[in-house]
Amino acid sequence: MKLVTGNSNRALAQSVASYLELPLTDCTVKRFADKEVYVEVHENVRGEDVFILQSTSFPANDNLMELLILTDALRRSSARRITAVVPYFGYARQDRRATGRTPISAKLVANLIAEAGVNRVITLDLHASQIQGFFDIPTDNLYAAPIITRDILDNYKLENTMIVSPDVGGVARARAVAQRLGTDLAIVDKRRPKAGVSEVMNIIGDVSGQACILIDDIVDSGGTLVNAAEALLKAGAKEVSAYITHGVLSEGASERIGASKLKELVVTDSIEATPAQRATANIRHMGIAPLIGEAIARTASEQSVSSLFD
Ligand code: R5P
Repeated sequence: MKLVTGNSNRALAQSVASYLELPLTDCTVKRFADKEVYVEVHENVRGEDVFILQSTSFPANDNLMELLILTDALRRSSARRITAVVPYFGYARQDRRATGRTPISAKLVANLIAEAGVNRVITLDLHASQIQGFFDIPTDNLYAAPIITRDILDNYKLENTMIVSPDVGGVARARAVAQRLGTDLAIVDKRRPKAGVSEVMNIIGDVSGQACILIDDIVDSGGTLVNAAEALLKAGAKEVSAYITHGVLSEGASERIGASKLKELVVTDSIEATPAQRATANIRHMGIAPLIGEAIARTASEQSVSSLFD
């Protein structure tokens, strides 16, 4: 068994390697002068069960190309099986033709990964779980819900606490956390007039006097969270926090979160934290290496992965 990584999140790769007590395979993943990706694997991988840990996070196109080219190198070096471990699967937000003349990028990227030679995929909190079906190879979608639930139990008192989905599309994800905690669920009715802009229309549920915890898969510009927090406080919530699996937090988002009324934003380390995130007092990071490491270990030993979530 081998664990390989590109440059998307070396810190997470190192933590997963420590969990598995397996050194990272010696590879060079760098750039030619014109920024093309250059890959060289310095260890024999013939007949090995190889796991490539690489998210398609910022810079998304570079990280995706690293994953594809690493796969090609390993396939041509006779690896027995190649599993792409993609904690953050980007390109997931165009997953259907919502309007005319748009692509289904999620399907295109799934095709690219499989065509490159990946035999199976492990990912975490896909934007929409049906994206699993875009891969014609076995795909395990892990859930951060158990880690989020544990952290909430460790840090929050549950009386007068309500779990909130920041949009209708995220209800199933938020409900999974509410059910584990035994709390009520509220829903923010969000409208997206255009990509990157969100507006709160209504709040479904009585949040007055409640400590609200928003649950979502992605925080990108931070607009959804900041608007939801304002609307919830206006509706009488006593405080608002958020647990989000993937801290995309594009440029300006950390500052937006820092200046917002959110008590705390907790994100996993599926995407490596930027200096701006680390400098923001109300952003905290939660480690997912044990979950990813355990899923890899179980895949390697042909044990159940779904039972991690029973
Ligand atoms: C949308 O459906 C997602 O679940 C997130 O709510 C969205 O991507 C967050 O984006 P932003 O932080 O830019 O509002």
